[in-house]
Amino acid sequence: MRVGVLTGGGDCPGLNAVIRAIVRKGTQEYGYDFLGFRDGWRGPLENDTVPLDIPAVRGTLPRGGTILGSSRTNPFTAEDGVRRIKETLAKQEVEALIAIGGEDTLGVATRLSGEFGVPCVGVPKTIDNDLSATDYTFGFDTAVGVATEAIDRLHTTAESHMRVLVVEVMGRHAGWIALHSGLAGGANVILIPEQRFDVDQVCGWIESRFKVRYAPIVVVAEGAMPKDGQMVLKDDSQDSFGHVRLSGVGEWLAKEIESRTGKEARTTVLGHTQRGGTPSAFDRWLATRFGLHAIEAVHDGDFGTMVALRGTDIVRVPISEATAKLKTVDPALYAEAGVFFG
Ligand code: F6P
Repeated sequence: MRVGVLTGGGDCPGLNAVIRAIVRKGTQEYGYDFLGFRDGWRGPLENDTVPLDIPAVRGTLPRGGTILGSSRTNPFTAEDGVRRIKETLAKQEVEALIAIGGEDTLGVATRLSGEFGVPCVGVPKTIDNDLSATDYTFGFDTAVGVATEAIDRLHTTAESHMRVLVVEVMGRHAGWIALHSGLAGGANVILIPEQRFDVDQVCGWIESRFKVRYAPIVVVAEGAMPKDGQMVLKDDSQDSFGHVRLSGVGEWLAKEIESRTGKEARTTVLGHTQRGGTPSAFDRWLATRFGLHAIEAVHDGDFGTMVALRGTDIVRVPISEATAKLKTVDPALYAEAGVFFG
């Protein structure tokens, strides 16, 4: 049997570890061969493929990014998208497709398998950790590590200059990266998309931090919003799934802090450094196990399912579960961090 593999959406450390595990187990244990599709759904849509075998995945375990490339192509907005994908699969004699992606890529896989009979197995991926069907997605741990290291570094320079440092991290709808790195890094304020913030309260925390002669670190998720304002957008553009580009709330907040407290405030936007580079050991472990279980699901003919982490077990759930509901930060969990604010 020939199995197609694609990676869609924003890239994420650990993608290559998934691909490697799929190919190793599928080749060695089941005698399958593989075909990589380039750049997410664009690959099957345009019949753009990459050879995928054991030599192709050697040495890729610690490598960030994806050897298959990625894009945010949406076949449902492309002309005749479903027919073109089916045609490519038939032409390439691909009998099963493993889609590694976040809510958009898996949303396409849900529809393709449920409504159009394309045999898909899903693997959840996002640094934002906001897919509800799995306890963790790979890439998240690496992103939290990058953000925590940045916060550690920013503490010392903030204290040397007695200024406020605002750190903007990724997290469009969910504040998982902000919460975990903020707690791990000892931030004095953590702001997440799930809970609107009050700029006066933030300034109050900042002033109380200065009173004990320490410089405050504010961690803000890119999707966080002030009580009486809106999400700050980078520009007006949208991708093919209708997502706007975020970033800017950190810069906006630093200006507000300066004008309300009179203290100097600077912003560091971590951006794609959180997504790039080598995956952490945890992400390699999780991604490898996801890959092993995904090819097992293909072998069992269990299409329309996705692998997920529950505790320390890898389970199978309907792919639709991944996209049914966003996993956001529970207010009680966020409240726990409050003891460190100010
Ligand atoms: O993968 C999700 C995410 O990390 C979001 O937090 C962020 O808004 C988005 O990717 C940015 O991705 P890109 O710059 O590739 O559009």
